[in-house]
Amino acid sequence: MTVETSSPAAQRAAELRELLHYHARRYYVHDAPEIPDAEYDRLYQELERIEAEHPALCTADSPTQRVIGRVLEGFAAVRHQVPMLSIRTETDTSAGGAEAFDARVRRELGLGQDDAPVAYAAELKFDGLAINLRYEHGVLVQAATRGDGETGEDVTQNIRTVRGHAGAGGGVPLRLEGCSADVLEVRGEVYMRRDDFEQLNERQRERGDKTFVNPRNAAAGAVRQLDPRIAAQRPLSFFAYGLGDVRGWALPDTHCAVLDALAEMGLPVCSDRSVVQGAAGLVAFHRAIGARRDELPFDIDGVVYKVNRLELQRQLGFVTREPRWAVAHKYPAQEQMTQLRAVEVQVGRTGKLTPVAKLEPVFVGGTTVSNATLHNLFELRRKRVRAGDTVIVRRAGDVIPEIVGRVSNGAAAVASDGADNPRPAYVPNFRMPRVCPVCGSQVMREKGSVEHRCTGGLYCAAQRKQALLHFAGRRAMNIEGLGDKLVDQLVDGGVIRTLPELYTLGLTTLVALERMGARSAQNLVDELARSRSTTLARFLYALGIRHVGEATAKDLARHFGAMDRLMSASETQLAEVPDVGPVVAHSIRAFFDQPHNREVVEQLRAAGVTWPEHDAAPDRAPDAPLPLAGRTLVLTGTLPGLDREQAKALIESAGGKVAGSVSKKTHYVVAGAEAGSKLERARELGVPVLDEAGLRALLDGAAPAG
Ligand code: IVH
Repeated sequence: MTVETSSPAAQRAAELRELLHYHARRYYVHDAPEIPDAEYDRLYQELERIEAEHPALCTADSPTQRVIGRVLEGFAAVRHQVPMLSIRTETDTSAGGAEAFDARVRRELGLGQDDAPVAYAAELKFDGLAINLRYEHGVLVQAATRGDGETGEDVTQNIRTVRGHAGAGGGVPLRLEGCSADVLEVRGEVYMRRDDFEQLNERQRERGDKTFVNPRNAAAGAVRQLDPRIAAQRPLSFFAYGLGDVRGWALPDTHCAVLDALAEMGLPVCSDRSVVQGAAGLVAFHRAIGARRDELPFDIDGVVYKVNRLELQRQLGFVTREPRWAVAHKYPAQEQMTQLRAVEVQVGRTGKLTPVAKLEPVFVGGTTVSNATLHNLFELRRKRVRAGDTVIVRRAGDVIPEIVGRVSNGAAAVASDGADNPRPAYVPNFRMPRVCPVCGSQVMREKGSVEHRCTGGLYCAAQRKQALLHFAGRRAMNIEGLGDKLVDQLVDGGVIRTLPELYTLGLTTLVALERMGARSAQNLVDELARSRSTTLARFLYALGIRHVGEATAKDLARHFGAMDRLMSASETQLAEVPDVGPVVAHSIRAFFDQPHNREVVEQLRAAGVTWPEHDAAPDRAPDAPLPLAGRTLVLTGTLPGLDREQAKALIESAGGKVAGSVSKKTHYVVAGAEAGSKLERARELGVPVLDEAGLRALLDGAAPAG
């Protein structure tokens, strides 16, 4: 189909498409929007209107085409031009797995002991769903699942809705940048980030809807959703890891260079990858990623090794459906079966009563788990779990272990949908207690809510303890050494009743506690002192305001810049913050309307808790870009007046990004005392180097010198 290009409507439509593509990338990929959301929506609606009036002007890569189409009866079959192979899995999770693969490759290539090590591309094995994206002349024309490897399903309309995660990229581009190929099939994985998964399930739970078992199932379900509007509401992301059919493009020599080229075209490619030499390099990669597995924002079930040189891949070829040049090397599973011993009730920081499963201890996701959450009464009922059942426990990342479902008699099927599984009649049905098991106050459930709450507030020792633990948490004030045993003693012994009283703890008080040596007491005093310099985002998160998680706290800090501005903001002003809806805005306002909460903030400030503040974004002209929008900075060495966290928070609040390593794409390197190799690299590449004063000038919007 040719698209008419000469009329004013056609020209405006083309202009709008460009603008929308550009701003969507600013928002989703760079996390540095230049226009308010409302303006984006206005442009979007204008394009929609033109396309509705002149259907011929609507192109396949139009941003309006992310969510199109109708409910399908089923998916059309797609025959893959190049089969989608699977990959051999090395289940030996120790170093042996990598060594065995390298030995096989060397043998098959006829390499002897004296030959150099083989170079491998090592990458992550994403736990999602394999997808083939077909681009013709740079435009996405089709997306298909793997199916049986020969024939998959046409899921184009759902894949178009894959937008990725604001600030982290991961969207499927509808159009590639600078792609001259006639045909370029890109293969990769559609997946759901853990934070997106948790939020999705939280929403499902609040509505009383069925929750998803794990991010992979949620992603796979979304891709195979017959209604694209539902798919569009599921937060999906994508990583490219290979190619299918390619015509009219000269391939680079190595797999690594292929991925670099795909990234250049705007495809999301995971940066946790490297080229390593021989078995030793593979083992080191497997170990390094294994150590960081919990910190990754998404699930992986292993790493993948690929012979890097494409020429060698061709030489090695395939056995049946698996290439000889690649292998997946697993990590211990994140889901395991175990026995449910009992269900108990725990009282959380906000008074929420949570049914907790007491489990036969099981090793899952790298640790031994003996407790797992069942979230609320209704979810427990839906999953139909009772003492004595065999259940599936999932633990991934920092997320609290949870019960996914129960296993029906002997069979491996998960019965989260409530499949029948008769059990001995004597197991009593679980009931929520009517009074708080900790303080005896009345338990209430608000109308329409799925949550039961203790009404005791800070009178309830459980709530006080949880508030302290949350405050001290790694992502909040990060007070190392203030664990649950110590908090139990402090609260039960009446040593501490409020958050600010934490900062009154001195050596004498601490040493008098059980199991507290002079050394640990001193460490805790030092930790408390250190924790006083923090960031506004951490402080806000630490306060434990209902509905204010880490991400919301960051958004609030970025938007308001100063505590007093935030505390005095109206609900309407609060709701102007991206991702803050009326419920969250109400909760924040209600929190600061309580005099005792304002007092807590004042007392903490009086105890010396400080953070850097900046001019709030709303004070700038609404359409003026943030001073560091689109800029990538790298920090190295120790700055005189800011620690890493604070510098990072300031840069991010000015719209900039902080990267871990220096490349040609780095805009500035901020160097302090004892700066190391990053500073050298900056000089090699000619990247401007700033000191703290230079950074501050930049944050204030000054053009950098030099
Ligand atoms: S390459 C010929 N690379 O693992 C090699 N696969 O059977 C084809 N997967 O479901 C696969 N991460 O979707 C490759 N970095 C990665 C991967 C990856 C995840 C999935 C893939 C497929 C399975 C391999």
